Amino acid sequence: MLPKRRRGPNPLCPQVGAAVTDELLQKPCAPDSPDSPSGENWSAPENTLMAQQLEIYAREIQQYYWDQRRLEKELRSQVEELRQSRQRIVAVEEALRKEIAELLHGRVQTRLVVAWHKLGQCLDLLDTDMLKAKSVLRQTRDEIDLIRERDVRQAAHLLHPSVIQIGVRPAIQSLVSTYADFFKITVTVDPQFARMDDPLDNHVPEETRLIIYRVLEEAITNVYRHAKATEVRIGLSMSGEKCVTMVVEDNGIGFDASRSKPGLGLTSIADRVGAAGGVWKIDSALDHGACLFVGLPFGAPEPNRYLHRIAARHQVP
Ligand SMILES: Nc1ncnc2c1ncn2[C@@H]1O[C@H](COP(=O)(O)OP(=O)(O)OP(=O)(O)O)[C@@H](O)[C@H]1O
Ligand SMILES: [Mg+2]
Repeated sequence: MLPKRRRGPNPLCPQVGAAVTDELLQKPCAPDSPDSPSGENWSAPENTLMAQQLEIYAREIQQYYWDQRRLEKELRSQVEELRQSRQRIVAVEEALRKEIAELLHGRVQTRLVVAWHKLGQCLDLLDTDMLKAKSVLRQTRDEIDLIRERDVRQAAHLLHPSVIQIGVRPAIQSLVSTYADFFKITVTVDPQFARMDDPLDNHVPEETRLIIYRVLEEAITNVYRHAKATEVRIGLSMSGEKCVTMVVEDNGIGFDASRSKPGLGLTSIADRVGAAGGVWKIDSALDHGACLFVGLPFGAPEPNRYLHRIAARHQVP
C-alpha cells in the first residue's frame, strides 16, 4: 500500500519526503483520495508526475527498510561479540582463581604443614636437647619466611601487580626478571614515554598500565612456552600525545597464525585491548620468530582510527 501524502520530511527517515516537491504538494489530491474535493480531475501529465514521485517515494522507503535491517543485524552481531568477550574475560578470571587456589592449597599448605610438624618436634626437644630444638626452630622460622616471601607474594601478585602503581617500567622489570634465566630480554623505552611514566608524577592512567602489564604477561608466557627463543625485545613508545604502543618481538620458532588456534592468552589480549579501544596484531612465520604489536589510547574506550593507521604501517622487522 502506498503511503499517504506527507508535507516535509518523514521524522523517522528524513530523506523520505524530500522527493515530494513543493510543486507536487500544491496539486490537488487524486480523485479517489478521501481528502479530494469532489469533481476534481487530474490531467495525464500530472498523473505521470505523481506516479514518478510516488515511485521515488516507495524506493526510498524500501531503502530505509533495508538500512534498518542492516543496522539491526550489525547491532545484534556487536551484542553477541560483547557477550562472548565477557564470557572469555570470566574464563580468564576463573583460570587465574584456579591458579591461586592451587598455589594456596598445594604449595603453601604443604609448606605450612611441614613447618607445623617441625614446631611439634621442637616442643618435644625442648626438654631433652635444647641445642637441637634451637636449630629446628631456626630452620622453621626461615621456612615460614620463605612462604611469606615467595608463595604469598606470588599469590598477591597474581591477583594484582601492585608494582604498577609506581610505573610501567618497574612493573615490566619485575615481570621480565622471572624469565632472565631462559632468554635474553632487552627493554627499550622512548624518552617521551619515560617522561609520562615518571614514578613521582605518573601521567599514564593506571588502567592503561595494567593492560600493558597483563598483555606483556601473556606475550612473554607464550615466548617461554612455545617459542624456544634465545632473545626477546620489548619496546614502549608514545604515539602522539595520548597513545602508547608496545612491541614484543622474539627470535623463536614462530608459528603459522592462520593455522594455530587462539587459546586464552591471545583471546584475553584481544579482549583487554579491544575493551580499551586499542588495536593489536601478531605477525609470525615458521622459523622467523613472532612480533606482537599493541596500540593503546589513554582512557578513551572508542575505536581509535589513528592507532589503526599506525598498526597498519607497523611491519615485522
Ligand atoms: N611467541 C610465540 N611463538 C610461537 N608460537 C606462539 C607464540 N605466541 C603464540 N604462539 C602460538 O599461538 C597459540 C595461541 O596462543 P595463546 O596464548 O592464545 O594460547 P596458548 O598459549 O596455547 O594457551 P593459553 O594461553 O590458553 O594457556 C599457541 O598455542 C602457539 O602455538
Ligand atoms: Mg598462551
